[in-house]
Amino acid sequence: MITRLGIIGGSGLSRSNVFRTSEESEVDTPHGPPSSAVETGERVAFLARHGADHQIPPHRINHRANLWALKEAGASAVVGSCSVGSLQAEIAPGNLVVPDDYVSFWEIPTYFDDQVQHITPTLDPGLRQQLVRAAKTRSVPVRDGGVYVQTRGPRLETKAEVRVLRKFGDIVGMTMATEATLAQELDLRYASLCSVDNYSHGITKEPLTFEDICRTQEANARVVQGVLQTFVEAAA
Ligand code: HPA
Repeated sequence: MITRLGIIGGSGLSRSNVFRTSEESEVDTPHGPPSSAVETGERVAFLARHGADHQIPPHRINHRANLWALKEAGASAVVGSCSVGSLQAEIAPGNLVVPDDYVSFWEIPTYFDDQVQHITPTLDPGLRQQLVRAAKTRSVPVRDGGVYVQTRGPRLETKAEVRVLRKFGDIVGMTMATEATLAQELDLRYASLCSVDNYSHGITKEPLTFEDICRTQEANARVVQGVLQTFVEAAA
């Protein structure tokens, strides 16, 4: 079996065009169809988390199918690009964060529905360091470490929730913890490159709108794509 790097493209990253993929397969899994076709090249297997047309909202993503499909495509390690809000004034929109831990109180999708087995959550240190290095190579501001807090969505957090979450978390998003957990259950190494697309609700005096998040997301997606390209080339 060929070993590839699995890449899950997040918001703003539904195309694999910098990863030299040559084949696209519509696949099915025991957990249903993944979010998009899997695009494979010599080194990479790419999948768009929200679908090719960014049509799948975070609470409807079939994460179990997505990770399964990447493993089937020969991935032994997976990197997810994730859009996040910042919970801390010093982590500004436009920064990248490579989290080293996560908090997820509410989600429990698992492959272990019918067996007693428990993984110990770990974001892969080797992949994390490679991501940080790739960002530095591109001179993109990157924070090495931080706690990702996962909320359910699709709504954003209330100001009161943000006041609680920022006591123990640095960034907030709706997908990474589930993905990281499932990857580990499948014995896949996993790390995430998080793009800070907004200050979360109430961190600044500016009102937070979805339109503002989308605008920043689009600009940041180009940066994320470049960093991932460098990451893939260096991992060869
Ligand atoms: N909250 C939750 N998820 C997000 C945010 C946010 O502020 N920004 C991007 N994804």
